Amino acid sequence: MTEKNKIAIIGGTGLTSLQNLEIIRREVVMTPYGEPSSPLSYGCIQGGTDVVFLARHGHAHNIPPHMVNYRANLSALHNVGVTKVIAVNAVGGIRDDMSPGSLVIPDQIIDYTSRRINTFFEKNLSHVTHIDFSYPYSNELRQLIVDTAKKETIDVIKEATYAATEGPRLETAAEIHRLKRDGCDIVGMTGMPEAALARELEMDYASICVNANWAAGLSNELITMEAIEKNLDGGLEKVRDLLAAVLNTTL
Ligand code: HPA
Repeated sequence: MTEKNKIAIIGGTGLTSLQNLEIIRREVVMTPYGEPSSPLSYGCIQGGTDVVFLARHGHAHNIPPHMVNYRANLSALHNVGVTKVIAVNAVGGIRDDMSPGSLVIPDQIIDYTSRRINTFFEKNLSHVTHIDFSYPYSNELRQLIVDTAKKETIDVIKEATYAATEGPRLETAAEIHRLKRDGCDIVGMTGMPEAALARELEMDYASICVNANWAAGLSNELITMEAIEKNLDGGLEKVRDLLAAVLNTTL
């Protein structure tokens, strides 16, 4: 594995490990921002490109979205030479076609989070820095995922606006109405500040979102963890295949 230009996968709910990842070694790392959510797992999927895997909520899935140390996670990946990040995020569907189990490659974000440390650019600055975030995801990486999905006949919805909420509670029906009026198509709790921090570190970043449930008030059913996990299972099967195929193309 070369020291630079590594690709990383940040796994979310339901993807605390990658069954098809052949792990070569695990590394516990520390950063100036604290400890990342999990050790870094180095390996490859079905003989494809080398990859670094990080479990966003910890291997035991015990770190809730609002407690994730996003800076430590991104900093750890950056420090080991990662330049491209594919994030996997569980979401609730708002737009009519965002049914449970479907995969979405978002192209926009609206950030509704309120209590998270959302920048590396705080102290000891030689000058004030504002990143351009007009297009929060790497178009090149998104396109690669979308093209690979097409080749593999895996259905993905290729444009959507992601609403990032603070959590950990789910939204009210009125909040989802508001998000819909704002133009949001999916809602999740982990998309930000991860995407912005990746941009600050000049890493290409894209997300594969898995619809786990209809967002609050959009179906007659209560949103339970059991229902979320059940719906995620089918979607994550496709995510594993898609990631294997992406990592088997030249990156
Ligand atoms: N809202 C916020 N985050 C989520 C949801 C939801 O409905 N489903 C999975 N993550």
